[in-house]
Parts: sequence; C-alpha cells; structure tokens
Amino acid sequence: MPLGDILISEAEIASEIPRLAGRISEDYRDTDPLFVGVMDGAMCFLVDLIRAFPHSVDVATARVQSYSGTEPGKITVEWLPTQQSLEGRHVLLVEDIVDTGATLTALSRHVINLGAKSVNVCSLLDKPSKRTHVLEVAYVGFEIPDVFVVGCGLDYNGAYRNLRDVRALEVGQLKES
Ligand code: XMP
Ligand code: MG
Repeated sequence: MPLGDILISEAEIASEIPRLAGRISEDYRDTDPLFVGVMDGAMCFLVDLIRAFPHSVDVATARVQSYSGTEPGKITVEWLPTQQSLEGRHVLLVEDIVDTGATLTALSRHVINLGAKSVNVCSLLDKPSKRTHVLEVAYVGFEIPDVFVVGCGLDYNGAYRNLRDVRALEVGQLKES
C-alpha cells in the first residue's frame, strides 16, 4: 500500500476521543445538543465520539458539496436530514478535518439560517496552516502540519477510510496513484 508514516496512531485517537467527549459533555451540561456529523469523512469519528459521550445525545448527519474545480469557494449543503428540526437547537458540527475552513464556515451559517440557537465545531484534525476563513474550532483532537492524510474516515479517492491510524500520503504517492 503506497502509504506514508503513521501521523496519529489508533491508540492516540482512542485516548483523545473520550477526553473530547468529556469536555463537550461538561460544556453542554445544561443543554440538549444535536451532533451533526459531516459525511462521509466524519463517519468514524462521529461513531467513536457519540459512543464516548456519557449522556444520551441526538445525532444527525449532513453532506456538503464543494465545487472547488469550477467555482472556487462555492460550497453547497447537499443534504440535511429533515427528521431533526434545527429550530432552537444547540448544534455541534462533527468533522474529520478543518483545512481552509470554507466548508464549516458555510455549514455553520446554513445551520444558523435553519434556526439553530448555537453552533460549534468539533474536528478530529486541524490543519491551521491552511486556514483562509476565520473559524473558531471549539474542539480539536489533533493539530497536524500541511500534509494530506488518510484513515479514520479520511479517504483518498474513496480508499483508506477504514484505516485505524491517521497516515500521511506523500505528494509523490498521489501522483503515482
Ligand atoms: P475545508 O478546506 O473546507 O475542507 O476546511 C475540509 C475538507 O477537505 C477535505 N480535506 C482532506 N481530506 N485528507 C483528506 O482525506 C486531507 O488531508 C484533507 N484535507 C482536507 C476533507 O473532506 C474536509 O472535510
Ligand atoms: Mg470532511
């Protein structure tokens, strides 16, 4: 498999997620948060996070389409489940990685427009060096340098999502694939 080094191990992820869940549970102790996982990348993190959460929690998923090729910066929220009203809810967006911040800036705005009372972001990974949008990420698992990573839900053309560690994928390897 043309993979680079392990950047974050399965064990590191496994010990970080309960810590995040504990902080979130403390911060939201007087509210009834709605976790919205950003599909497909956040699927593994979302599952681990809600299972580490010490109280019952409402969960939904959203899908975001970004047209970076043809319309730079244009982001469309493709789908949000209708069975969960966002009206008056305290929404926590659960994401795999924040890169430029464009996706979550657009999604946060969308969620507020749908009537949410508050919105926060929890991301397993953060690449702060790539940020082009001012976005507060309230909960971050790990900061990473500017490398393309796969595993723990993150994919390269659909592959590697199921890896338990987060691994770097070298630029040379991307070109070869
Ligand atoms: P923005 O730039 O809007 O983008 O914050 C976040 C989305 O970009 C994808 N992304 C990655 N996907 N490995 C991936 O598999 C990476 O290193 C990576 N960096 C950004 C991802 O879909 C994320 O939701
Ligand atoms: Mg994502």
